[in-house]
Amino acid sequence: MSAPVCLPAWGHTWVDLPVLRLPMPGAELIPCANGCYQIPIDIRSPEDPVDRAVHRWFLGHHGAFLVWRFLSDSLDRLIREPDSQLVRLAALGYDAYSVMLAYSGSCSREVYEDVIRPMMVAFDPAFSGRWARDYEPVPGLLRRARTALGPVAAAPLSTASKANLLAHMEVMRKLVPGGNSLLRESGRTRVPTTDAERARFDEFFLVSRENVCVSRHHAHRAAVLSAIGRDLAEHPLRPEYGETLRTFVTRL
Ligand code: HEM
Repeated sequence: MSAPVCLPAWGHTWVDLPVLRLPMPGAELIPCANGCYQIPIDIRSPEDPVDRAVHRWFLGHHGAFLVWRFLSDSLDRLIREPDSQLVRLAALGYDAYSVMLAYSGSCSREVYEDVIRPMMVAFDPAFSGRWARDYEPVPGLLRRARTALGPVAAAPLSTASKANLLAHMEVMRKLVPGGNSLLRESGRTRVPTTDAERARFDEFFLVSRENVCVSRHHAHRAAVLSAIGRDLAEHPLRPEYGETLRTFVTRL
């Protein structure tokens, strides 16, 4: 019997996170008895700064996957029921996504260049956020919601979504100051995303697509958001991030 002689160049041996189980975008969670999922989901942030940066890259993306789903649901509802409370809720979703961007990308340029970027390159040289299947419906839903609401009623949503684009740009500029993203270097900027790429994005970020019941989903979401909240309380980035996250959690 042969034993493995070395670890793969890319692997999740450093990333001590539970797999995030999600239904496909658009698929419903399975209704269940409230609280039927009882297994504790333990997420701890490592002490070592480089390990913590990698942990944040993955955990922040788990947070983003969960927020994308929340955003799709709230924008979809807003299109059907234009209402000022729902506008504020969807805007809060964008603010929460902006926190996930800043949290995921909170490492130094050096750690990104030496550790995080090579993990993605080894996995796939053209690796890109464009492959995030849960985000794909969001821009179209936002356009439709803004049209349904009109510019005045949609103002909080427009402000939050624009701030979100700036937050993404800020992370990119900080981590890739030369501007040559993996996507540009791959020459695939205009090529439509394939299902295989969507699946690779899930695989890299430890996301498994399956039927998930409501209580399991809520338990995992609570664990991810509270782990990020604890980490931000211990190692703050900007004070408003913790506040945004706390408000978001109370509105779920
Ligand atoms: C938490 C979520 C995200 C984070 C932290 C993030 C961060 C980044 C970073 C650091 C880069 C530079 C990549 C490199 O070359 O090393 C990048 C590029 C890029 N990201 Fe994201 N991203 C996120 C989500 C998304 C999503 C959902 C999309 C979907 C449209 C997206 C679209 C892009 C594109 C198109 C580029 C290349 C931009 C260019 O070449 O000008 N990202 N992102």
